[in-house]
Amino acid sequence: MSIAGAQSAVVAEDVSKVFFSGRDPVWALENFSLTLEPGSFTCIVGPSGCGKSTFLRILGGLEERTVGTVTIPDEGQRIPAAFVFQEHGVFPWMTVLDNIAFGLRMSGVGRAERTRIARDWIERVRLGDFADAYPHQLSGGMRQRVAIARAFATGSPLLLMDEPLGALDAQTRMLMQEELTALWEAERKTVLMVTHDIDEALILSDRVIVMSGRPGTLREDITVPFARPRSFDIERTPEFTELRSRIWHLLREDALTAEENA
Ligand SMILES: Nc1ncnc2c1ncn2[C@@H]1O[C@H](COP(=O)(O)OP(=O)(O)O)[C@@H](O)[C@H]1O
Ligand SMILES: [Mg+2]
Repeated sequence: MSIAGAQSAVVAEDVSKVFFSGRDPVWALENFSLTLEPGSFTCIVGPSGCGKSTFLRILGGLEERTVGTVTIPDEGQRIPAAFVFQEHGVFPWMTVLDNIAFGLRMSGVGRAERTRIARDWIERVRLGDFADAYPHQLSGGMRQRVAIARAFATGSPLLLMDEPLGALDAQTRMLMQEELTALWEAERKTVLMVTHDIDEALILSDRVIVMSGRPGTLREDITVPFARPRSFDIERTPEFTELRSRIWHLLREDALTAEENA
């Protein structure tokens, strides 16, 4: 993995991935290329099993690619990309405060400094009264706020989110979409987020990447034209309806094929 200078884009070129763990090799990704501009919010949608999680893990250094190149920004500090997962992303044996400070601890930030930063983030995600609580004492939405706060608190320029709101009920999810948007607008990190929810992708992102079924390749790269700050009112505009149906038609074919092969 090469390291580029500050304010540079995240670049993946012709990334392919084969898993050899089973009897037959599985091609999870094939010649997948993507450039993320600094401070942009991009969503990936695609059928189940098309390699979305694998791609995030390759970008974040959790998985080796088989072929291709990946360049991530450095900003002089080498803070690894921060992940947010759908569930089980917070440590059950750590308090909310320690969970949020965890990434900073791993980066070698001293106790006083990381406690100060974590306390600031606890306030920003409205968990000020829960600093000493454990994850099992929180609702699902609150646990995801911990996971999101931890990702932002690391100071990493690149946040990789794998269906972070996927396990939440509809109302909690909409509230979290608003909160995530507000945090991102204030911080302008580069975000790459996987979601199954087309509306969510259109509400949150600058750009929606539609992937094909396995092996995952780039099917379409769609610019989301809505001005910011946004509200859910955009869902009622003709542009939104048109984009939603365009993405659905792209996904529909692959979803049907997947059903037939299931
Ligand atoms: N560690 C692994 N070993 C073997 N196969 C894997 C592994 N991780 C993922 N795969 C396979 O790679 C394909 C893509 O998986 P994944 O990236 O999780 O898809 P998605 O997130 O788009 O649903 C799937 O067929 C999956 O079974
Ligand atoms: Mg996945």
